[in-house]
Amino acid sequence: MASNKKLMIMAGDGIGQEVMTATLKVADWLSKHRSISFDVTEGLVGGAAYDAHGTPLKDETLADAMAADATLFGAVGGPQYDDLPFELKPERGLLTLRKEMDLFANLRPAMVFPALVSASTLKPEIVSGLNIMIVRELTGGVYFAEPRGRTTDEDGTVRAFDTNMYTPPEIERIGRVAFDLARKRDGKLTSVEKSNVMHSGILWREVMTALHKAEGEGVEMSHMYADNCAMQLVRAPKQFDVLVTDNLFGDILSDTAAMLTGSLGMLPSASLGAVDATTGKRHALYEPVHGSAPDIAGKGLANPLAEVLSFSMLLRYSFDQGDDADLIEKAVEKSLEGELRTGDIMADGFTATGTDGMIDQVIRSLDELSR
Ligand code: IPM
Ligand code: MG
Repeated sequence: MASNKKLMIMAGDGIGQEVMTATLKVADWLSKHRSISFDVTEGLVGGAAYDAHGTPLKDETLADAMAADATLFGAVGGPQYDDLPFELKPERGLLTLRKEMDLFANLRPAMVFPALVSASTLKPEIVSGLNIMIVRELTGGVYFAEPRGRTTDEDGTVRAFDTNMYTPPEIERIGRVAFDLARKRDGKLTSVEKSNVMHSGILWREVMTALHKAEGEGVEMSHMYADNCAMQLVRAPKQFDVLVTDNLFGDILSDTAAMLTGSLGMLPSASLGAVDATTGKRHALYEPVHGSAPDIAGKGLANPLAEVLSFSMLLRYSFDQGDDADLIEKAVEKSLEGELRTGDIMADGFTATGTDGMIDQVIRSLDELSR
């Protein structure tokens, strides 16, 4: 029986528009061939919302995202907005969504598709078969904690400051998400902080250690300083299974992990809220890890696969459609064996294509796999 899911889409800026349009072709394909269809609503966010309404996120758009079963997001930002005041910058639209929807758990899987081993800047033996999951705390830490701001002393000295602050419950809830994921994977968790330098890092380690004792059955946990982790990620990334870390370290380490896979253009992410005890639902937003890529925006060159894979995470985590998610992931993998590739994953023997060519190759793979 067909069930209509409320899907909100926010393409945002730059290549966000192009990769979203491409990904909606996959959603259309599913509506035609599988027992799922979507009620799609659209919302403006980031620079696109600023251009139209003078704000990077309208209250109505936030309310729509809250009411949707899940939100698929593109990207925000662009050099034309660099001089806007802090509160009006495109990124505030995304950060407000994360905060107001309480999307505290950001899942960033980094896996290397066999066909892309040679696209990585690292040696094939270092990255082939890589499959790690970064769990980033997304609503606390230096991105949001107060005090933050900028002041000028009487003598004219300017001070700009941000606070990295965490409370035990904030660490516990992201820790639980990481334990759950580790149990479904290889059972290995690395908790990452800088407890050698930061008070928030000391608390992070204490809370994770206690939580592991109380609730970490079946998970082997170790601790690592964030700087060492950055080094280990490029030295021997396959030592990791699940990583859990705070908002800022997660931002940085996930970009590093992304490049292990060959291209930022391949990486999806899911940002999840807590499950509501009465409705069983959770707020969720899915977005590619790549940004708005202003340098190639509007040219039809962007790789749509990170957005397609974000959509497949959406089906898996929000709509409980694991079969459809598996099918999409298989189609992406198969499409990488096709003749066409976008510039970011280009290699000898392939033909250069753009967003449309790449998504058509995915659709052809879906057709073939479902024959
Ligand atoms: C990310 C991005 C965002 C972040 C920006 C666009 C605000 O880099 O999702 O990793 O810093 O969290
Ligand atoms: Mg980032």
